[in-house]
Amino acid sequence: MEDLSPRPGDLEPIETASRDEIAALQLERLKWSLGHAYANSPFYRARFDAHGVHPSDLKSLSDLAKFPLTTKADLRDTYPFGMFAVPREKVVRVHASSGTTGKPTVVGYTQKDIDTWATVVARSIRASGGRPGDVVHVSYGYGLFTGGLGAHYGAEKLGCTVVPVSGGMTERQIALMVDLKPRVIMVTPSYMLSILDEFRRQGLDPRQSSLAVGIFGAEPWTNAMREEIEEAFDMHAVDIYGLSEVIGPGVANECVETKDGLHVWEDHFYPEIIDPETGEPVPEGEPGELVFTSLTKEALPIIRYRTRDLTRLLPGTARSMRRIEKITGRSDDMMILRGVNVFPTQIEEQILKCRGLAPHFQIELTRTGRMDDMTVHVECAPEAADDAARAASARELAHHIKSVVGVSTRIAIHDPGFVPRSEGKARRVVDNRPKG
Ligand code: DLL
Repeated sequence: MEDLSPRPGDLEPIETASRDEIAALQLERLKWSLGHAYANSPFYRARFDAHGVHPSDLKSLSDLAKFPLTTKADLRDTYPFGMFAVPREKVVRVHASSGTTGKPTVVGYTQKDIDTWATVVARSIRASGGRPGDVVHVSYGYGLFTGGLGAHYGAEKLGCTVVPVSGGMTERQIALMVDLKPRVIMVTPSYMLSILDEFRRQGLDPRQSSLAVGIFGAEPWTNAMREEIEEAFDMHAVDIYGLSEVIGPGVANECVETKDGLHVWEDHFYPEIIDPETGEPVPEGEPGELVFTSLTKEALPIIRYRTRDLTRLLPGTARSMRRIEKITGRSDDMMILRGVNVFPTQIEEQILKCRGLAPHFQIELTRTGRMDDMTVHVECAPEAADDAARAASARELAHHIKSVVGVSTRIAIHDPGFVPRSEGKARRVVDNRPKG
């Protein structure tokens, strides 16, 4: 694979600024953001008042912990525009996330917010190894989801030629790739696997494709999956993180030269890690729930937003801005089986160790009596499809899961193509336990 380290002059000055410079900028922006939220969003004013805090109480960055946390429920309760801090006429775009229950949550952007977003996505693409002039194939969904349009504006801002394919119609995706020769693809890692299958189905060698960089996010994926994709396509696979409430994709991104966690673009988004049980900040470097405060956003300032994503904050490496460790999962997709915490990413890692298995899987939860059971539905690799090979793969996977994750699982090995293919975010867990 190509060495894609940044060349002199590639980076914005803030990406290599000293920690003191970054902290000074953050403090100044944080004061603005809290003041803006308090003065212009009745929601935040009422919240801060009820909590007995005022923006003028923030003298140092650590004072942020005195301010109340916000959650997705707050956005839902104030649906659609109740948390906004600008008149609706100043909002040039909205996006929405579907949410599993009830109403979606709506987020909004002023023109300046859209420009900020494009800047951080452009920075993310550059960190991933993309350059001005590249053809960028965007297979994140376009529409209310922030993935497609977020990637699109960022790639344009960097000076790339964008192919706005959106998700789905996998055959056509491949035809476009063959003809337009993208150097960069932006897509969920699970949909990238469907694209890989389609390459092979058409008899094309994915290693001969024009792709040099894949920018994968919107769902958890593991380093084992990175290796699988890098090997299959002979390309760099880099992680991009973000969420609609904070802006969309481009809140944090890995650097292609290190691939050691995601640098948070701390000049726009201030990260904290809290204990999900108590809500208290944990010591730097300890695991917990990621919380974000926007530093520059106008339409929807977000103050101490609980992401539910679990990770740790680490010092900067390739850039001076701090990193988050690859997200293991969300507190709400953690399964507890006989007292053991299990994340779908842990199962993914074990599947990728088994040579006889393909990386397509789904976890089914059922209940017998009072006990929860987990069945891992996974496909055999085409070359390991006979009964003996399947039985061996099932034993191997059950053994890995038991010894590494610590739970006993049922393994169901299926023909290639059995597991529903993702065209966006994969649905990893199917909960068939009786309700109530
Ligand atoms: O998924 C934004 C996005 C689009 C990010 C494209 C990256 C690429 P939401 O639909 O609001 O926004 O979902 C946000 O997705 O809280 C995480 O749980 C999860 N997520 C996003 N990126 C990653 C990642 C977009 N790289 C939620 N690793 C977040 C793990 C991720 N989980």
